Amino acid sequence: MPVHPLSSFSATVAALRRAGCVFAEDEASLLHEAAASPDELSLLVERRVAGLPLEHVLGWAEFRGRRFAVDAGVFVPRRRTEFLVAQAAALAPRRAVVVDLCCGSGALGAALATTLGPVDLHACDVEPAAVRCARRNIGGLGQVYEGDLFEPLPVGLRGRVDVLLANVPYVPTADVELLPAEARVHEPRVALDGGGDGLDVMRRVAAEAPGWLAPGGSLLVEASERQRDAAVGVLRGAGLVPRVVVCEELYATVVIGTRSAGHVKL
Ligand SMILES: C[S@@+](CC[C@H](N)C(=O)[O-])C[C@H]1O[C@@H](n2cnc3c(N)ncnc32)[C@H](O)[C@@H]1O
Repeated sequence: MPVHPLSSFSATVAALRRAGCVFAEDEASLLHEAAASPDELSLLVERRVAGLPLEHVLGWAEFRGRRFAVDAGVFVPRRRTEFLVAQAAALAPRRAVVVDLCCGSGALGAALATTLGPVDLHACDVEPAAVRCARRNIGGLGQVYEGDLFEPLPVGLRGRVDVLLANVPYVPTADVELLPAEARVHEPRVALDGGGDGLDVMRRVAAEAPGWLAPGGSLLVEASERQRDAAVGVLRGAGLVPRVVVCEELYATVVIGTRSAGHVKL
């Protein structure tokens, strides 16, 4: 725990508490650590009190024990999604071909590559701000492309992808307005809104996934508990063999769809 001038630190905690921050002391520590001067500290506290997500104020989010850059307007990777990456790590072969579709900050692909060692990593997103951020986080670990779903990927990857991470937007349109302001106001709608039942983007991904997956390769998607059965139906309907894994501690539901080794639809 860093040493803070007591009056300034307690003033920060009080300001954060008044603004409704539940973990005011922890947040105050991070803000004091991040600020190079009292003026900068005031600015950071002001932004947080105004409702910006802590990660956007700091410019980074912790994911699987590492700090990843998260720029303003880019989806903040959630702790629950660490479970999806852990599942991917468990099923990836050596020197896997990995695609991180709808990559946002690129934290998922980068964290998986860091866990696995050498992989052939490709990430893409439709949002230019996300693509810029992912390029910084992924660096030399892989390639980052901009465009709609699979469209920007090299065609040479078709039929060769071992692990297809796709944490797509999955909030039903009517529920977007019920999200906390940090998400609703400060994360782009395209990162949240998954259409009527929340599964529109997942359906598009699943429909194309068998053509990109290697025999035995898997698509991993996150869903809410409520969407679990529908998501299983989406992956099965696309010709993949689905299974569900749940982490109650992180409130995480991941649906994994595997292309059977004998599947020939390319
Ligand atoms: C829920 S966020 C997840 C981001 C990242 N995978 C993560 O877990 O932190 C969904 C991401 O999908 C991207 N996205 C939405 N529609 C897309 C599309 N049609 N093609 C590519 N990316 C898309 C958004 O820009 C956003 O970055």
